[in-house]
Amino acid sequence: MDNTLHIIAIWMHILGIALFVGPQFFLAVGWVAASRQITDMPTRIRAMRVVTRRFGYLGGVGLGLILVAGTYLIATWRDYYSYPDDAAFTGVPYGVIFIIKMNVLAVMLIVLAIHTFWAGPRLITAIEAEAEGTGTPARTRSARMVSMTLSIAGLALALAIMVMGAMMNTKNYSLS
Ligand code: HEM
Repeated sequence: MDNTLHIIAIWMHILGIALFVGPQFFLAVGWVAASRQITDMPTRIRAMRVVTRRFGYLGGVGLGLILVAGTYLIATWRDYYSYPDDAAFTGVPYGVIFIIKMNVLAVMLIVLAIHTFWAGPRLITAIEAEAEGTGTPARTRSARMVSMTLSIAGLALALAIMVMGAMMNTKNYSLS
């Protein structure tokens, strides 16, 4: 039974990662190029708002799945790997990598929050203002640079966390 639950949790964890990381690549590779084809600025801005909102929903659901499944996996690690109760968590690479992974996750969540609640809305406001004639191209460019830097940093941190997760499941570092 616990093996079945473990499989379900790993599946949920990976599904969450796909939903969280996949759209970040799609937005950078697909949407940025596609949005430039929309020459009518009010239409482009409306489409941008829809795409970024849906992107937020997908990423949010993904992150929720990752956190729920990850919490299950770490709460059951001792039983699942039949590890002695008195053995320290930090006495095995599995535990050390997990702690590093959680610290990197905390930094990633901070970067993500700054991007979602500050840099992203600020960029859309700057694009809108430029289209209405109250903003300047320089303001839009600076907002875009900040937003892009945060996006790339968040994605790089997510990819690094994935490496650590994969390490926890290899012969040298896992408990099996
Ligand atoms: C609350 C947050 C998280 C917790 C508690 C958590 C916990 C875990 C645990 C315990 C494992 C190892 C499972 C095993 O023993 O086989 C694991 C695997 C993994 N984690 Fe996480 N994790 C979290 C967040 C994340 C995030 C944010 C990512 C990536 C964006 C991630 C990516 C991975 C990957 C790729 C694996 C390997 C999956 C596999 O076995 O194929 N984790 N996680």
